[in-house]
Amino acid sequence: MATQTAFDIDLDIIEPKTFKEKPKDEELKFGQVFTDRMLLRKYENGAWDKGTIKPFENFSLSPATAVFHYGQEIFEGLKAFRQTKTGNVVIFRPDENAKRLQASARRMVIPEITEEYFLQSLYRLIGMEQDWVPRKRGTALYIRPTMIATEPALGVHPSSDYYYYVILAPSGPYFKEGFSPTKIMVEDTYTRAAHGGTGGAKAGGNYGGSMLAGKKAIDQGYSQVLWLDSKERKYIEEVGAMNIAFVLDDVIYTPPLTGTILPGITRKSVIQLSADLGMTLKEEKLSIETVAESLKSGNMTEMFGIGTAASIAPVGELKYKDEIFIINNGEIGPTTQKLYNQLTGIQYGEIEDVHGWIHTVVEK
Ligand SMILES: Cc1ncc(COP(=O)(O)O)c(C=O)c1O
Repeated sequence: MATQTAFDIDLDIIEPKTFKEKPKDEELKFGQVFTDRMLLRKYENGAWDKGTIKPFENFSLSPATAVFHYGQEIFEGLKAFRQTKTGNVVIFRPDENAKRLQASARRMVIPEITEEYFLQSLYRLIGMEQDWVPRKRGTALYIRPTMIATEPALGVHPSSDYYYYVILAPSGPYFKEGFSPTKIMVEDTYTRAAHGGTGGAKAGGNYGGSMLAGKKAIDQGYSQVLWLDSKERKYIEEVGAMNIAFVLDDVIYTPPLTGTILPGITRKSVIQLSADLGMTLKEEKLSIETVAESLKSGNMTEMFGIGTAASIAPVGELKYKDEIFIINNGEIGPTTQKLYNQLTGIQYGEIEDVHGWIHTVVEK
């Protein structure tokens, strides 16, 4: 575990004049409250400025601003944790988010920022906002780096100007159920992403296009949608804001990265952790028929979502067409529990970080 030095890049600093009251850890929801400061870096005349850590405040943008019309926008999501034994503030695998933001930027024709800038500016911002990192296990400081097209002109073309900004939200569980099993619904009409599209990038438009199916699911009492492939509506892709995994005949299956699903960093971590724990995991396509049949026969014993916001989220109920499947009696299964314990154990500093995933920003 290495402690990161946060002062290698030159940033402008504007301190807030007033400071907000911090919410109680027990009352934290997801993404509702934001900290006192943000990072803002502007791209104009073909170059990024050095960036400013400044008070969290509204932008003033022309109604013609490109992002409002054409959705040239990408973002990231990662977390800073307060380690339970030491009180240290750490970030989980931010180098992976830096690389994925660059990949999304290339797909959406947005000028990239370097991994070094991404990391160093983040260490600095989190260091300044360290008191906002909650202490209760299960809570974290959610970090939202974002890039938007800011040219104030109409017409479909890559924008000349951009903002890169980072906001921070102390957060509790993503689902109202917390680590209790959640309910998801298979969507067999609408699809999320097609081959050659933007599904593999973390682009806002992917989420805008998913709202109708998401609403359909919520109206029926489900938290999220399980997407099928766009060509045949046959193979499992991912969930609204998570990758997905199944336990079938004691083997963990998760869909392969074929360009239509987001290459999740939690997914990548779970692939490593399952090997560490001696479990067998296969990155293989799984059809919805196989899932339905093996749930009926009892050979499929667990299903869980994998993502930064929800961590490892057990799925207790799946709806497909008119059928409702209750998984593992609606209880958390042993594989899900072990992976959850291992992942969160590393994040909260209770289990040794042998892979160098933890970036320590504040050492107590
Ligand atoms: C569509 C989608 N898939 C998967 C994930 C999981 O990715 P990660 O583990 O990097 O958070 C997310 C969340 O960011 C997501 O929005």
